[in-house]
Amino acid sequence: MKNIVNFFQEKKNKSPISVVTCYDYTFAKLVAATDIDCILVGDSLGMVIQGHNSTLPVTLDEMIYHTKAVRRGAPEKFIIADMPFLSYQTSLEEGIRSAGKIMKESGADAVKLEGGNDDCFELVHRLVECGIPVMGHLGLTPQSYQTLGGYKVQAKDDASAEILLEDSMSLEEAGAFSIVLEMIPESVGKKVSEKIFIPTIGIGAGRYTDGQVLVINDLLGMNSEFTPKFLKKYADLSTTTKSAIQTYHEEVVGKKFPEEKNCF
Ligand code: KIV
Repeated sequence: MKNIVNFFQEKKNKSPISVVTCYDYTFAKLVAATDIDCILVGDSLGMVIQGHNSTLPVTLDEMIYHTKAVRRGAPEKFIIADMPFLSYQTSLEEGIRSAGKIMKESGADAVKLEGGNDDCFELVHRLVECGIPVMGHLGLTPQSYQTLGGYKVQAKDDASAEILLEDSMSLEEAGAFSIVLEMIPESVGKKVSEKIFIPTIGIGAGRYTDGQVLVINDLLGMNSEFTPKFLKKYADLSTTTKSAIQTYHEEVVGKKFPEEKNCF
C-alpha cells in the first residue's frame, strides 16, 4: 500500500505518478489489477455517473458511498476522496467535520479539496494537524466553474499565472502533500512543478507536472461526444459497449439467446 511518503519519493526520483479516477467496485477491481499509483474518487462522479452538468449536486454521503465501494474493490491502493461542494466552504469547523467523516467512514487514505484562498490554506493546515493528508486542486476548479466563466483554461496571463504559483506555494506551506493542476498552460504547469517540492498531478496541464490524472470513463472512451484536447482515449468502450448490448438485444428478439448451454 502506498502512502504520502511515496508521493514525495516519486517526485524526488523524477518518477511520474499515475492517477485515475474510479467510482465503483467493479472498476476498482480492474484498476487494482494494474500498476496505477493512486485512485481518486472524484466528485466528477456527479457528471459521469449521475449525469449532472456540474459537480455541485454531489453530497458528502454520496462521496462516502462511492469511496467505500472503490475501497472494497481496491483494498491495497492509495485512495483519495474529493470533498464535495459546500462540505468545507462554509466554515473551518464544517470542513474538519466533513474531512473527518470521509476518513472515518469511507476508507479513503486522503482527501482533496479545491481552491486557493486563505480559508482553504487554513483548513488544509488544520486537517494536516488533525492527521488527515490533503491534496489541493488549483487552476480550473470545477466547483467554481460559474465564477470562472465555465470550463476554461486558467492562468493564461502573467498575473493569474503568478497567483497560481503563489497559491501552490501556500498550499505546500499549509501541508498539502500534492496538488492537482487542471487546465492551465503547459508553461505554468512546468513552472509550478519546478518551484514546489510536493508533486503536482496534471489534467490538461501539460507534460511537465509530476504526475497525470484522467477520469476513468474518459480514458476508456465511454463518451464519444467528450473530446477535449487534453484527453487521450486508450480504448473505445462506447462503441464496444453499444455493440455488445445491441447484439444481446438482437439475440434475445431473434431467440438465439439463451442457448441450451445457458440453461439449467
Ligand atoms: O473530480 C475529479 O475527478 C477531479 C479530477 C478531474 C482531478 O477532480
